[in-house]
Amino acid sequence: MTTAERAAWLRQELERHNRLYYVEERPEIGDDEYDRLFHELRALEEAEPDLRTPDSPTQRVGALPVEKFTPYRHGLPMLSLDNAFGEAELRAFDERVKRALATEDEVRYAVELKYDGLSMSLTYRDGLLTVGATRGDGTTGEEVTPNVRTVRGVPFRLAEPVPGQIEVRGEVVMLKSTFAEVNAARIARGDQAFVNPRNAASGGMRQLDSRLTAERKLSFFAYGLGLIDPNAAVPDTQSGRLGWLRRLGFPTRPEATTCQGVDALVAYVDRIQSQRANLPFGIDGVVVKVDSVRLQEELGSTARGPRWAIAVKFPSEQAFTRLLDVGTQVGRTGVVTPVAELEPVFVGGVTVSRATLHNYEEVHRKDVRVGDTVIVQRAGDVIPEVVGPVLEKRPTDAQPPEPPTQCPVCSTPLVRDEGMVALRCPNRTGCEAQIQAKLEHFVSRKAMDIEGLGEKQIARFLELGWLTDLASVFTLGAHRHKMVELDRMGEQSVANLVAAIDRAKTRPLDRFMFALGVRYVGERTARDLARAFGTLEEFRNATFDRLIQVPDIGPRTASEIESWLEEESNQALIAGLLEAGVAPAEAEAPSGEIFAGQTIVFTGKLERFTREAAEELVVRQGGKAAGSVSKATTLVVAGPGAGSKLAKAEQLGVPVVTEDEFLARLPEGAL
Ligand code: IVH
Repeated sequence: MTTAERAAWLRQELERHNRLYYVEERPEIGDDEYDRLFHELRALEEAEPDLRTPDSPTQRVGALPVEKFTPYRHGLPMLSLDNAFGEAELRAFDERVKRALATEDEVRYAVELKYDGLSMSLTYRDGLLTVGATRGDGTTGEEVTPNVRTVRGVPFRLAEPVPGQIEVRGEVVMLKSTFAEVNAARIARGDQAFVNPRNAASGGMRQLDSRLTAERKLSFFAYGLGLIDPNAAVPDTQSGRLGWLRRLGFPTRPEATTCQGVDALVAYVDRIQSQRANLPFGIDGVVVKVDSVRLQEELGSTARGPRWAIAVKFPSEQAFTRLLDVGTQVGRTGVVTPVAELEPVFVGGVTVSRATLHNYEEVHRKDVRVGDTVIVQRAGDVIPEVVGPVLEKRPTDAQPPEPPTQCPVCSTPLVRDEGMVALRCPNRTGCEAQIQAKLEHFVSRKAMDIEGLGEKQIARFLELGWLTDLASVFTLGAHRHKMVELDRMGEQSVANLVAAIDRAKTRPLDRFMFALGVRYVGERTARDLARAFGTLEEFRNATFDRLIQVPDIGPRTASEIESWLEEESNQALIAGLLEAGVAPAEAEAPSGEIFAGQTIVFTGKLERFTREAAEELVVRQGGKAAGSVSKATTLVVAGPGAGSKLAKAEQLGVPVVTEDEFLARLPEGAL
């Protein structure tokens, strides 16, 4: 093979792997192997610059800076979309479409994700990428071709020959995983973090130096066409066009599909909304388009946008509001967290008036001050957080909050553990706030699961002295006669509470382990511990050497558990629990061996059961359930919306199955 042939082969091979990775999402090689091929090609091109072609994958790293962007007139205008908020407005859109088409029949719609990024038009001449342009005012945008060439998944050359000129429309986005990675690097360098992936993506595309764009590792998803050459054989439906674009080498998403009639649209919107948090990139809604291009033409456009399409918008996951004050919250391990008190704001579908600020170091790093206008974020079920201040709106008298020096509840001087950023109240047994938080955790659903003992009751019983520590939960029944006399505690609810407490005495051992609230002992570790020790008495005498032998327990957790057990008050607590009649059921013995030796990860949305139930099934069958994919993972069960974990599994060559295939592996009667 000549050097020229080798270079051509490498180019082709790298482009094929790019496609497998970004379009097909089923890579055949890992990053290392890709890098090796890439570097070989780059070395060849450096030695013999004539070998360098404009469509070489090495040209994705960015080119020399330009002085300014030149205007680019789109072949076909880039329209924007009308919005619909909620089901009623979606139904009204369908009504309008049917009326305009003078039909009573159900209309067939193409439905897609509404990517939250920056729209882009890519022009290909005779199959080669020649121009990338922003939307601009819709008629004229800016030419950002060198920047577009750094975007992953944008093909330099179409995978199938297309004559003449076509414009491919799509969205440039930053993946959530990239956003986290890029922001971590910025913070480490002392730069201000990006507020959200959309800003990071659109800022990236506006760089005059495309090498800076390349650093943002942006992605592209195609959603449509602009101008098309009359000689090109283009499908005549939107859904067909998406399939065609995919065949040409453009990344599209599997969520795109078609719906017959408005009820199916409503169901689709619901489904996507529930998957939103699990997607690997941000979306701000769903786009609904009349599928037939002929009908689209019949419907036409208004000045605002096409009559044949609408954006069904989801509630924004970020909003602006004012920071009224910074309070503190003391957690069950004594960690003191700063909490933002906010002017109530509607974000992510709920009204938020408090949000976490994580720790004081972060407050300082983000430079959040009382009186600031701040960006509040609530994505999925994640607790609301303050992203950062809007510096332009800062009042002159805005004050940085002072970290407390003593516990806001028990006044004990706070400590900072070595190597930790968090402030902690060391008064483990006497601090009311810690006791309250410990009790709330103890009775919570995944722990002792005592219904009827909520935050308010706990506070009240603490005040009355009926609750003093975790063990005292089991002696609450002694106060039942006085309890009946309390506000809003009738005979029936007291009887229910007493019965619930009684039932909790025999919860499985792993739940007890979790309920104790030892640092680093989450549900999964609790399960490992329960399986290793079998009884509370055995666990009580565990030493570091014994703990470290438990599979998956590392030195940090082992040492934390050991010092927890060494503390007299905790031994007294276990004694108190046993005395109160607590008799944990044996940790559930595996009922089968189907998954013995396996480590299984669930990702994406499960349709048949909750993730916890699925993980329990794995454990009952002798396997282990894990939260992240690694070399130790033996199987990944992926549902709709699976993102980075799925990609990782594929990269590592870990087998991936659907939920149904997983169910099929279970022996009869296992459910
Ligand atoms: S179609 C004529 N499809 O949303 C139809 N747009 O206001 C033009 N967007 O600027 C747009 N995902 O950047 C379409 N699947 C999708 C989209 C999408 C995101 C953006 C696009 C446009 C804006 C519409």
